[in-house]
Order: sequence, then structure tokens, then C-alpha cells
Amino acid sequence: MRCRPARSGCYTNLLLHLCKTEGAPITAARNSLVYLFFFLLQSINQLYSKTSSRKQNLSHQTHKLRLNNQTHNRSMRIRIFSDLHREFGETQLPKIDVDLNIMAGDIATKQNGLSWIKSFAGSTPTIYICGNHEFYGDNLPSITDKLMQATSGSNIHVLENKAITINEWHIFGATLWSDFALQGPWESGSYAAGAQMNDYKRIRNSKAKYRRLAPRDTRHMHQVSMQHMEAFFQTNDASQSIIVTHHAPSRKSLPPDRADEEISCAYASDLEEFIIKHQPKLWVHGHIHHSSDYMIGNTRVVANPQSYPSDLNPNFNPNLVIEV
Ligand SMILES: [Fe+2]
Repeated sequence: MRCRPARSGCYTNLLLHLCKTEGAPITAARNSLVYLFFFLLQSINQLYSKTSSRKQNLSHQTHKLRLNNQTHNRSMRIRIFSDLHREFGETQLPKIDVDLNIMAGDIATKQNGLSWIKSFAGSTPTIYICGNHEFYGDNLPSITDKLMQATSGSNIHVLENKAITINEWHIFGATLWSDFALQGPWESGSYAAGAQMNDYKRIRNSKAKYRRLAPRDTRHMHQVSMQHMEAFFQTNDASQSIIVTHHAPSRKSLPPDRADEEISCAYASDLEEFIIKHQPKLWVHGHIHHSSDYMIGNTRVVANPQSYPSDLNPNFNPNLVIEV
């Protein structure tokens, strides 16, 4: 068996073996030199063993630190609704104890929903994004900026191409708008939207000398939001992420009787490939006054819109709470 350097005392044994096999008298000085040589070898070996052990300990500690830094899947009860359209009438919603409220737009026009939102939310963290109706009679994007300023430092989080982490869940929010390409070429979809949607009659663009909002503006805003969302997924664990938009991310959110209408391209974009690529835990939207709850890959897509008081969504659930 070979004498391995890691074993303590091996070099001493080897020295004794050499002494015995020499057979001839060995001078004390030669003995001492040989002994010193092997003693030095043994010391170096012990030093190497200690360093190696220290490295192993450090590696173990680093691994433990990495484990501690991983995001833990902390469950959260989320109340979800949208499209209360309080500009047409007030709605009373029951009080429910939850960890987070998500309001996916069209709560009221301009800043008019803010006092109700504050009173409804109390101390519960609340995500609020602008729908298209928040901009009605005003300018875009200035209303978003005003809402952000008015809620700064509070538990109401107005998100536009921004994210926040609450209870270890990463939440990205944006109005999103649409790319007009749901039913065919975006150019024809854009033309239909410009002709039929009130968005392009009732909203002005504060970044373009207050001219009327144009479909090209909202298509551009959609593209910018998609870029922000892509960047969001580059830095956040998608399985611990929630996306909140006003416009829908899939044609699956359309009511079956309107699925083929050209104007649907102003309500939803086909983002299924994007969702499959990233697979956030939950995607909440509004805008379409039709309830949705379906899966795309591992992503649950939920919409719980109330709609106008004169045309209430029969499937609106004022008590809807989802646990992630
Ligand atoms: Fe809407």
C-alpha cells in the first residue's frame, strides 16, 4: 500500500524503514538531516490539510448564505377587481381581510377614484394601475404622474412600467394598451380602433402638445411596457411574480360572442408566447367586461371586472380572493 501524504506519521515510518534498510551505521548528523527533511514535509502536509479544510468550511458557509438569499414562496391572499367605473355610480364592496388588493384600472376617471381607494384600502397594501378611463377628459401620461405623487409614501402603489415587492412577491404593473395585431395586421386594427374607441376622442397626449391621443401613441406605449416587462423578468424570479395590466394578454379573455370582432384588438394582445417564455405566477387584467380565470402554461390569468352600473357583469364576484 502506498503511503499517502495526508496520513499523519507516514513520513516518520518511512524514515525508520529507510534507516533499517541502510544496514550500515549512519552518522548522527545524516540522521538528523534526513529527519529534518521529512519533518518539514510532514509540516507542509499538515498546513495544506488545514487550508483545505478551511476552504471547505467557507464553501459550506457560502452555500448556506445562498440558501438564505433565495426567495421563499410566502403565500398571500389577494383581492382582485377592476372596472368599477365609479364615474357612472358608486359601488359598495364588502370588507374582506386580505394581504393585498389589486385594482386593475377603470376605477374612476382622472384622480376621482383616489379618495374611495384610500378609504377602501385602509392599511392594506394596494396595487392600482390606470385603465383607459382614468385618462378620460384629461391628459396622458400626466394623470399617472399625479396619482403617483398623490399616493407617494402610502400603502397605495400606482404602477406604470414599475414594479414593487410585497411579501416577497414581485409585482409589475402597467396599463399596457395593445399592439392592435390580435385579429390581423396591426395597421388595420389600429385604423379600426382609431375610428371606434373613445380613447382617441377623450384623451389628449400631454407629451405631444396636447393633441388627441392616437393609436400609434398607445401602440408605442404597449411596446415600451413590453420592454419594461422583459427587463423585469431578467431580474426577478418569474415564479414569484405577478403582472397587473388593464388590457388583456390573450384572446382567451374575450367573451366567445365577441372573439372574432376586429375591434377586439383594442382590448387584448396575443402575449401567450411571452407568458409561456416567462411564466409568472399570476396575471391580473381588466378592460374587458367579462370575467376570466384560465391558465397559460403555469400562469393563472384572472379578470374580475364589475362593468358599468347600467350593464353589470353578471359574473362579477365582489368577494373574489385568490391565494398565491
Ligand atoms: Fe377599460
